[in-house]
Amino acid sequence: MKLLVVGSGGREHAIAKKLLEYRDVEQVFVAPGNDGMALDGLDLVNIGISEHSRLIEFAKENDIAWSFIGPDDALAAGIVDDFNQAGLKAFGPSRLAAELEWSKDFAKEIMVKYGVPTAAYGTFSEFEEAKAYIEKQGAPIVVKADGLALGKGVVVAETVEQAVEAAHEMLLDNKFGDSGARVVIEEFLDGEEFSLFAFVNGDRFYIMPTAQDHKRAYDGDKGPNTGGMGAYAPVPHLPQSVVDQSVETIIKPVLKGMIAEGRPYLGVLYAGLILTADGPKVIEFNSRFGDPETQIILPRLTSDFAQNITDILDKKEPTITWLDEGVTLGVVVASEGYPLDYEKGLPLPEKTDGDIITYYAGAKFTGNSRALLSNGGRVYMLVTTADTVSAAQKKIYDQLEKQDTTGFFYRTDIGSKAL
Ligand code: AMP
Ligand code: GLY
Repeated sequence: MKLLVVGSGGREHAIAKKLLEYRDVEQVFVAPGNDGMALDGLDLVNIGISEHSRLIEFAKENDIAWSFIGPDDALAAGIVDDFNQAGLKAFGPSRLAAELEWSKDFAKEIMVKYGVPTAAYGTFSEFEEAKAYIEKQGAPIVVKADGLALGKGVVVAETVEQAVEAAHEMLLDNKFGDSGARVVIEEFLDGEEFSLFAFVNGDRFYIMPTAQDHKRAYDGDKGPNTGGMGAYAPVPHLPQSVVDQSVETIIKPVLKGMIAEGRPYLGVLYAGLILTADGPKVIEFNSRFGDPETQIILPRLTSDFAQNITDILDKKEPTITWLDEGVTLGVVVASEGYPLDYEKGLPLPEKTDGDIITYYAGAKFTGNSRALLSNGGRVYMLVTTADTVSAAQKKIYDQLEKQDTTGFFYRTDIGSKAL
């Protein structure tokens, strides 16, 4: 069968590369992809994620069995609805089901209605009311733009002044455009953060290994928030009881709630959780795979990924199995200056193979040669599996030291919370 992956980052590289490993998969196309993926035998299609009718035409002409949708903005734009209307299968939620991610206020309403543990909150579109709420609650407090803001619309404020300023920027200065026309202001949750992913169709779900992302740019969780600078799975110090509790109190009720609301969920559900003294609580839902978590979760899948997704789409029971030993860890290499201004067009080190996988996010061939240049903020990621977190760190960091990373930077403490 032939498959299409929609998106262009490291996440889509990992999804597409994994799909191509299986016997029944002849060809995997990625639209629009990035040139680094071509080194793994993936076929790039020069169509953007928002060009639904061109993507549909491509899928029909090329006999695509189904498409896997990576990015949140494509899902929020209703790409799955459009594919389905054209008679095509796509793995991802409908626009209405994806509202769990594209409106934080909607996600909060669902959580409250169906009893899912989350931070106490208020939603505001008037600055004066937001300010009064912040002053009443006190700090620390968290201010979030309601809509999609590329992971940058969240301010964890340590003081009332910072929180008021953040609300001002979103509601009055229009810093995030329409996404910030409403803000969700919520209680600060204290505890360890982790992510729980599941493949879902309606009320059937299949939990993946736990993962931990590192969202701040620099070591020690310092610096600005980014898309994610590295991750590892599973999180060795999280007991199975926490996963079981998260499934019972979070995953099951939210999926039942979405069915009751007439928005049954299909695709990957990503719960961003904090383990508080009162158990796991939700900080956000995403309606898709995480980036960079996908790159460290999928290498642990030992079953036939393409068959698994085919079965889930057909509501058949999939046989999904995971590596049950060791840890998979990955470090993102980003352009100096990311997530703010950075240069593009710097030469990249050779692709690694075998024991250390290179996934590309922002990479482009130079003119007519096959040498890769950087072409984005997050450029590539090295991923490996080892017996322990420290063994995996050593493999990755030894490799990075051998590479010429001039003009790039990476965190040197990915996974260190587990040590
Ligand atoms: P988000 O974009 O919703 O993932 O939020 C970005 C980061 O802000 C999260 O990864 C958390 O570290 C932090 N955060 C979000 N909400 C809360 C909260 N209620 N309490 C504490 N930290 C939070
Ligand atoms: N790793 C964070 C995200 O995908 O949103």
